[in-house]
Amino acid sequence: MYAKVNSLGIIGLDAYKVEVEADTSSGLPAFDIVGLPDTAVSESKNRVRAAIKNSGYKFPVSRITVNLAPADVRKSGSVYDLPILIAILLATKQISYDFRNSYFIGELSLEGKLRPINGVLPMAISIEQNKNSNLFLPIDNSSEASVAKGINVFGASSVSSIISHLKGEEPIVPMTPPEFPSFYIDNVLDFSDVRGQTVPRRAVEIAVAGGHNILMIGPPGSGKSMIAKRIPSIMPPLLYEESLETTKIYSIAGLVDRKNPLITARPFRSPHHTVSPAGLTGGGSIPKPGEISLSHNGVLFLDELPEFSRTSMEVLRQPLEDGKITISRAAASLTYPCSLMLVAAMNPCPCGNFGSKTKVCSCSNLAVEKYLSRISGPLLDRIDMHVEVPAVDYKSLSSELKSESSSAIRERVVKARNIQKSRYRGKGYFCNKDASPSVIKSACRMSAEAENMLKRAFERLSLSARAYTKVLRISRTIADLEGSESVEKSHIAEAISFRTLDRKYFVR
Ligand SMILES: Nc1ncnc2c1ncn2[C@@H]1O[C@H](COP(=O)(O)OP(=O)(O)OP(=O)(O)O)[C@@H](O)[C@H]1O
Ligand SMILES: [Mg+2]
Repeated sequence: MYAKVNSLGIIGLDAYKVEVEADTSSGLPAFDIVGLPDTAVSESKNRVRAAIKNSGYKFPVSRITVNLAPADVRKSGSVYDLPILIAILLATKQISYDFRNSYFIGELSLEGKLRPINGVLPMAISIEQNKNSNLFLPIDNSSEASVAKGINVFGASSVSSIISHLKGEEPIVPMTPPEFPSFYIDNVLDFSDVRGQTVPRRAVEIAVAGGHNILMIGPPGSGKSMIAKRIPSIMPPLLYEESLETTKIYSIAGLVDRKNPLITARPFRSPHHTVSPAGLTGGGSIPKPGEISLSHNGVLFLDELPEFSRTSMEVLRQPLEDGKITISRAAASLTYPCSLMLVAAMNPCPCGNFGSKTKVCSCSNLAVEKYLSRISGPLLDRIDMHVEVPAVDYKSLSSELKSESSSAIRERVVKARNIQKSRYRGKGYFCNKDASPSVIKSACRMSAEAENMLKRAFERLSLSARAYTKVLRISRTIADLEGSESVEKSHIAEAISFRTLDRKYFVR
């Protein structure tokens, strides 16, 4: 006998329909799964056999062939346990149901219980357009799936409970979708805790307002990591579409919170410097998202930048420019988005005091040079702003006065972002950071004084063409923060100050 049920598979961030066909025929007892299954799928034979028996049904003593169509795409994971079981019960007439609108996903335990799987959100969203679809899945995945609109999500803890529902004995109540909070900021870490550091605070505000990447250099304990961790608190709130996209990535990586599945705060990822290149970009035989994709729509913080391996830094070059990464492996070639703000922090030398006005650096010239040369030049070039974070003085630290709070800074950032959004309407990007050289040039209407200053700085600092465009972009952001239509001399001067630090430290 033959039966067919629907299931779902994942390629990158997108899901596709998988038809699970089961055929039982006379002959020597055998159980084959075809349709490019990987090891986890092949192992589902044993789980399905045990789960059928332990749920009180009969495993047929006949020749069983299961086909996962389309047969030319590699299937991975334990997602197909449940649909295979249902297809076998249907083919052997142990249950009957109209399965045309229903989809099944889920891993089985030998006992017949359902275990959660990864990547449920993209799967559920992919069937949104087929109105009145039913999605049967493990109960632990049900709130994640219910984020998708217009489908009936039936979460069950065991095979028996799904079959009772199908027979109409004990109907499962469909999940209601979770509410998306219109405005959510993780307010645990606030900029009001950061004392002094006026210039780095201002630099970070500009960087966030224009989406620029930023590098902080300074002695140990000056607050670099502290400032970086507070950056998400001044970023504009996550939009619903952004939240869905980021949650999809987390869903595939298996990092979604089972109870509150939607990611509503901008991600802040801070991989340790021992991270491998594959850990950053994503990898595996069927590639999973890496740290850069997990930072999508948020911040990737590389603390102690010189400690990262050269290859780890090099692999960031292309994705930082393109906002997406394509990972090719034998089994699949997948693309994940990674539109992020890169924040890096480092000490200027092994002892940390090189360039300090108050402390003496104990490193030899060679040691400093060696330390700084660990940073890949092309990566440094992609970091738009460099800022020095000096040691905090006692007066600022002991002061009773609280510094400006994150919410006040965020208000200015949001205003500046709105100006940029309307400037770049229809262009496919929203920030000054992404504007092409010609676009940013026409967006920077300059006074004669400003033009003059830029010209002199260009000649005196012998800026590269890339640095020239970066200065324009940063100046535009500073002007936007002020609500100024034209770019003035003061804006150019401030922008240039964030491009001169690499000379102090890196050109020796
Ligand atoms: N500007 C500051 N205002 C208030 N507290 C600060 C400031 N800077 C540092 N601190 C205190 O010092 C601690 C260490 O700071 P942080 O970890 O940010 O230093 P760092 O610059 O990252 O140092 P390292 O180079 O060693 O990584 C913070 O947790 C905080 O308690
Ligand atoms: Mg630190």
